[in-house]
Amino acid sequence: MKFLKDMDVAADPTGRKPVLRVLDGARETVPPVWLMRQAGRYLPEYRALRQKAGGFLDLCLTPALAAEATLQPVRRFDFDAAILFSDILIVPLAMGRSVCFAEGEGPRLEPLTDAAALAAVRPEADLRVLERVYETVHRVKAALGPRTTFIGFCGAPWTVATYMVAGRGSADQAAAKALAAREPQAFQHLIDGLVDVSVEYLAGQLAAGVEAVQIFDTWAGSLAGADFDRWCVGPTRRLIAALRARCPDAKVIGFPRGAGKNLLGYVRETDVDAVSLDSEVDRDFARHEIQPLVPLQGNVDPRVLVAGGEALDREVDDVLARLGQGPLVVNLGHGILPETPIAHVERMLKRIRG
Ligand code: CP3
Repeated sequence: MKFLKDMDVAADPTGRKPVLRVLDGARETVPPVWLMRQAGRYLPEYRALRQKAGGFLDLCLTPALAAEATLQPVRRFDFDAAILFSDILIVPLAMGRSVCFAEGEGPRLEPLTDAAALAAVRPEADLRVLERVYETVHRVKAALGPRTTFIGFCGAPWTVATYMVAGRGSADQAAAKALAAREPQAFQHLIDGLVDVSVEYLAGQLAAGVEAVQIFDTWAGSLAGADFDRWCVGPTRRLIAALRARCPDAKVIGFPRGAGKNLLGYVRETDVDAVSLDSEVDRDFARHEIQPLVPLQGNVDPRVLVAGGEALDREVDDVLARLGQGPLVVNLGHGILPETPIAHVERMLKRIRG
């Protein structure tokens, strides 16, 4: 990858948005910033909207409300990117699985317990569900300012499969790992179906107006060795290749959380345009081994953002010092925590933007 020269916003004759410039390989003097889960419960205006919507899925699938949730954090903080307000579990919902969010308990799905259940999952999505998301994209796009990049997303096949198999979140993804080991072919069928539907879904988001997409592989770190290649790298590579066949200019950010040293193989083999780093990654490893290959995003520790004060200043300074010498979008290493004080987000932005 060829890196463009340093440039500042005003001087850029192309008028490209800062986040898109970084994804193209430019280093920005003041790096652009957005936060994973930037729309969420730490914001009073989100809590009010959430109450108005009733259920979390109603919020995701009502375009006027989902668009408003997407825009709230951008309005308040002037983030450099808006991330579509939705959820990775919209894909299983569109595939006809039952999905619900029990208050305070996280997601609940009808689990997949054996090969027959895996084989019965149809690799097709109900367009009526996906079109509600595309309608949200249209609305947000019409409301965004000229410097804000609009990012869409999906869950990576492995991570979405862990929820579909266990029927809920789990600390170790044991159910999916056991079923993949016991029934590799049937599990492959599920993964392949998720690849196909995710390609369709991301292509639909891009056609509706998002300018880049992020693939959230939250549970990549529970895979090791050949399993990492088979269930994380392979499906992600196929997803990206098929997406590029339909949308040649698609910009793709990968987020293989917990991948550690496997990041290098992930970046080389999936053909992502940029990689989002969790907070556990060694920053010098990322700087020396990964950033020469692709731009980086991350990796402020969300717990330090909760702590605030000088600890937060030191964390931000360290990210900028170690990762900011090359192309960088500042972000968190994982989603913002609901208990995060708004003043700490403001402090972080001031530290970055001066
Ligand atoms: O980043 C954003 O602001 C965009 C919206 C977004 C949400 N979820 C909204 C959400 C995105 C990109 C996601 C991705 C997502 N969803 C992931 C991958 C990233 C990660 O955080 O690991 C995963 C694993 C999910 C599945 C999911 N959704 C879980 C496990 C939960 C429950 C946990 C919790 O915090 O309650 C959700 C719910 C969810 N998704 C909320 C939000 C704002 C909270 C729901 C609420 O308002 O009650």
